[in-house]
Amino acid sequence: MRLRRPAVTAAASLFALFVAVGVTACGVSTTSVTEQEFANELAIPPLAKSDVEDGVRTFDLTARKGSTDFPGQDEPTETWGFNGAFLGPTLRAERGEKIAVDVENDLSEPTSVHWHGMHLPAEMDGGPHQMIEPGETWTPHWRIDQPAATLWYHPHPHGETESHVYKGLAGMVILDDDASAEADLPDEYGVDDLPLIVQDKKLSDGQLELTHDGAEPGMLGDTVMVNGTIGAVQEVSTEKVRLRLLNGSTARTYAFEFPDRSMDLIAGDGGFLAEPAKVNRLRLAPGERAEVVVDFTRGETVRMRSAEVDLGGVAVPTTMGGNDSFDVLEFRAADELKPSPGPAWQTSEHAEDDALDEAEVAKTRKFELEEREINGERMDMGRIDEVVQVGDTEVWEVRSNQPIPHSFHIHDVQFEVLDVDGEAPPVEMSGRKDTIYLEPNRDYRLLMRFEDFTNPHLPYMYHCHMLLHEDEGMMGQFVVIDPDQEDEVGVPPASEGGGHEH
Ligand code: C2O
Ligand code: CU
Ligand code: CU
Repeated sequence: MRLRRPAVTAAASLFALFVAVGVTACGVSTTSVTEQEFANELAIPPLAKSDVEDGVRTFDLTARKGSTDFPGQDEPTETWGFNGAFLGPTLRAERGEKIAVDVENDLSEPTSVHWHGMHLPAEMDGGPHQMIEPGETWTPHWRIDQPAATLWYHPHPHGETESHVYKGLAGMVILDDDASAEADLPDEYGVDDLPLIVQDKKLSDGQLELTHDGAEPGMLGDTVMVNGTIGAVQEVSTEKVRLRLLNGSTARTYAFEFPDRSMDLIAGDGGFLAEPAKVNRLRLAPGERAEVVVDFTRGETVRMRSAEVDLGGVAVPTTMGGNDSFDVLEFRAADELKPSPGPAWQTSEHAEDDALDEAEVAKTRKFELEEREINGERMDMGRIDEVVQVGDTEVWEVRSNQPIPHSFHIHDVQFEVLDVDGEAPPVEMSGRKDTIYLEPNRDYRLLMRFEDFTNPHLPYMYHCHMLLHEDEGMMGQFVVIDPDQEDEVGVPPASEGGGHEH
């Protein structure tokens, strides 16, 4: 095996994990999270300002270095952020709108910005082929053409994604449509509709540290933060609050829950479920999002926590975060709470156009994850792995062959999980998804349609969203083409190191 980082084979490192566990007490976590004092007001990322001119809504994002004062640290921490010192503003737009983003790179190294979950042309996708050199500005533009959903943006430079995201480059995207506008749901941003970017970090001597210590999923930090706030507290003024949960961590999978109540799950990665579903616990792997509505009673204080997460038959859960349980966010309800609507919504007027039909499947592809490879290959910027015909509906059969956590993400589309080992998917996977946790040795069948945006030269990515794995090569590339573009398929040499769009 050709690992770029510690040169050990996965088999050898698994063996080492078994040995390591032999000397730790059974059931005791080796990755544990530090309990925090919950006393800091939850930061809410500002809504990004935009200008509308000639029917195009334009946002500005500047990736830059900064410094952040985290509680309990003796010195400011060097962090990266968009328009600020850490994380970025929330971009918000409506279905049908044309948008553009002026993305400026104020860092001293190249980066890129990918719109995770967005349906858009490959040249606007912000993957490793759309690098932005220091000092340059890249202005992708597209029309929002998908249902209301909670998406996010983050860098995607090949081999460096983990470190760029870890340092703080990430932000949320909220898309609205007719269904979300008319829904009976809490919708006051930052009040009863909360963006929650959950991440784990390691702070040592006040600075962010990115080390793996042989941990299979990647770095599991001991400090959990929400929107950059450690030990975060949110005041509640309404009976119900909508939480837009984003797992923006590089490797950790969470199992969110409340000690004493269920949550109404209303949306997955790609938008609303068919109807709200009660869940007690919600597993969220890196890259995944979910929206839930939670009920509060007046005067109470309660914490959302992450429980011991079921990673589904991984080799040594204690070394993969499987035994960690910790509080994430404290809610303090006011003595009087305003009544809240719903949760309820009508289907969108676009629902029929958006529907997927298994009877239309033109092609089935298989993807096997093993040894930081997909189908026996590591990511190669110059190689197109899959060629998709525009307009086609396809089934992708995805399977992880080793007892290691992975989360599988596909650019450009929102797919439906048809089944898992032949069984109907759990309710958490019942809406449209772009990222799923892969339990080892199970078959996931995903249904999707590649509606438009042909380009024989510029690929979209599919990859593991555990960012160490992605950086080490667990990624592949597909193009969407017209039938008459068959002969042109290939990445032009100029774009291999990253092309530029201005
Ligand atoms: Cu969130 Cu290809 O990434
Ligand atoms: Cu993506
Ligand atoms: Cu992985």
